[in-house]
This record gives sequence, C-alpha cells and structure tokens, in this order.
Amino acid sequence: MAGMKRIGILTGGGDCPGLNAVVRAVSKTAMAEYGATIIGIEDGFEGLVAGSGRELCNADVSGIINLGGTILGTSNKGDPWHFPVAGADGPEIHDCSVQAMEHYRRWQLDCLVTVGGDGTMNISHRLAGLGANVVGVPKTIDNDLAATDLTFGHDTAVFVATEAIDRLHTTASAHHRVMVIEVMGRYAGWIALTAGLAGGADIILIPEIPFSWEAVYRKVIERSRHGKRFSIVCVAEGAKCPDVGEVVKSYDAKRTDAKQLGGVGDVVARRVAEGTGLETRVTVLGHLLRGGSPTPFDRVLATRFGVLAAHLAGRGQYGFMAALHGSVVEPVPIADAVSRLKIVTHDHEYVQVARAVGTSFGDA
Ligand code: F6P
Repeated sequence: MAGMKRIGILTGGGDCPGLNAVVRAVSKTAMAEYGATIIGIEDGFEGLVAGSGRELCNADVSGIINLGGTILGTSNKGDPWHFPVAGADGPEIHDCSVQAMEHYRRWQLDCLVTVGGDGTMNISHRLAGLGANVVGVPKTIDNDLAATDLTFGHDTAVFVATEAIDRLHTTASAHHRVMVIEVMGRYAGWIALTAGLAGGADIILIPEIPFSWEAVYRKVIERSRHGKRFSIVCVAEGAKCPDVGEVVKSYDAKRTDAKQLGGVGDVVARRVAEGTGLETRVTVLGHLLRGGSPTPFDRVLATRFGVLAAHLAGRGQYGFMAALHGSVVEPVPIADAVSRLKIVTHDHEYVQVARAVGTSFGDA
C-alpha cells in the first residue's frame, strides 16, 4: 500500500446521472488500493469555501451505483473566485479562493478529485495554480467537453428524451398535431441531435445549425401533403431562432454561468402554428433528463472514470482529468480540457445520417 493518502472529492455544477457511481468508484478504489481516507465535500465548491465535508466510509458509498443525484450535494454557485456572500443589500460577489485553499490545507488533502463539467474543470485548474493537487472527472448530460469523446450522464439524458419522443408520437399522430419537444444541452445540440435521431424526429433544431421559419413550415406542410398529418420537432434549448436569437429564461449573477436557457419550444410552437395553421403542443423535458437512475452505459463509464481518477490520485499523478478516447479511458491534462467546448459540426455523421433518412434541420 503506497502511502496513506487523504483525498477530497466533490461534485460540482448541475447534478447528472452517474455522479454517485463516480463517488463510489473513486472511494472504493482509493480505500482498497491506497488505504486512502476520503473526505466528501458537500455541495461542490461551496463546501470547499465553507469547510463543510465529512469522512466517507465504505458503507457511505455502498449501494449507490444506481442512484441519481449525488450523495455529496452539488451547486452551480460555488465558484471560489465568484462567490456569493450575504451583504447588507443582498448577496455580494467575493473572491473566496483563499478560504477554499485554507480548507484544502486544514483537511490535509493530498489531492482533490473534482467531478464536473467545463465550469468545474476551469475552477480546478485555477485551484491547481494556487497549489492544490487536483484530478478531474468529466460529467455533463450536454456532452460538450472537447477533451473526451463522451461524458457520463449523456446516455441517460438521450435515453429519457428518446422515450419521451416515442410517447409524444402517439398524441401527435392521433390528434394530427405538431409536437415540439424542448431538450436541454446548453450551447451544444448533442442531446437534441441524438435523441431526435433515435426517436425519428421530423425536424431537429440545434444551436449549431442556423434555421429559417420557412424551411420548418415547408417540412411540416410537405409531410401533411404526403398524408403524415403530424410532425415531431425536437429543439435544443440553445437553438437560435431567426429574428429572436437564443431564448433566455432568466439571469442569475450568482451562477457560474449566469444564463438560464429555456422557452425556445414555446417560440417554435407559436411560429409553426402561425406559419402552417396546424395545431401545436409543447413539452419541455428540462430536468427530467438529469433525474433518476443512470443507464448501464453511464454507470460503467462513471465507474471507469472513477477508478482511473483514484489511481491518478493514489499514484500522485495530479493535474489530469479522466477521458474517453475511442474505447479507452485515459488521462488528459486538465489544462487541455478547460474552455474547449465540443459542439456539433455541420458535417458530423449523425447530421448526415439524419438528413439521409429525411430529417430536416430547418436549413434547407
Ligand atoms: O449543463 C447541464 C444542464 O442541464 C444544461 O443542459 C442546462 O442548460 C443547465 O444545466 C440547467 O441548469 P440549472 O439546473 O441550474 O437550471
């Protein structure tokens, strides 16, 4: 057993199916192979700044591989450099990175394992600059991290969205309606593209492919003329509508990314009703995509990432993030992973095959 390490672990940003599988894999591997003590830090970086954490024992991380959410809690408002602190006139944003490092040292951590998306990896990289040893695990249902082919959570989100499209098909065809399904994904269209492809959506609208209302109407009307008196439109929350742009629900300065997207489905449904005269309905899947049990694929990927992260932490190979390349899980420098978003390219194979089977992206 090489050294008795003290490893902190936190989950940051939005919750995502598979987080508990990572916490389990990191903890079990690090305890068994490196005799490590695991400190579970609560509510992401909020807990690091506030000093809230607890030692995890085997029983804490047992029986959780199938659970959604995170036993540690998470937050998207914990950026230590952009930290909301109660002030006389409401919350003020402060730099609390010194407090974060104080707790890192007080817990006598040899390494901090951070499980999160782009925001979390950015913060991890900055903490490394202050002297923290960090190892990253990439998560996001959006699958928009460039340094890894896949993030865990994405498969579950696509599974849920696909099932929803299947179910909505029933009402669409029975009532001869246009059903608009809005899915999450932020600035990337991966969930809409993949679920739209799997669910046989007639129109897929994503942030990466500009579309026109006329092309959307044309597709819906053309289907009607061919006897298909219904259509399924799968729209990513970040899709940019002509003359409207991105549809933002609200701004919250306390969040790492202030923008809360949402509402594009309503805009699309209204315009399609006006432009085609057909009855339309909207379903916003929202957080359903992130809830509940991870798929077997996500459980396995999360476990593979977690085991690698434990080995990196145990062996003292800091500054790396676990990544999937092809079928291999391997480390990549966190520095290479930050601020590089992976978005859908126009010539991506999924776009091509969707077009081949008649799906419109509203751009023709
Ligand atoms: O990044 C994951 C994600 O679910 C995005 O798809 C979405 O835009 C965002 O988080 C929503 O965040 P929140 O739960 O904070 O509203």
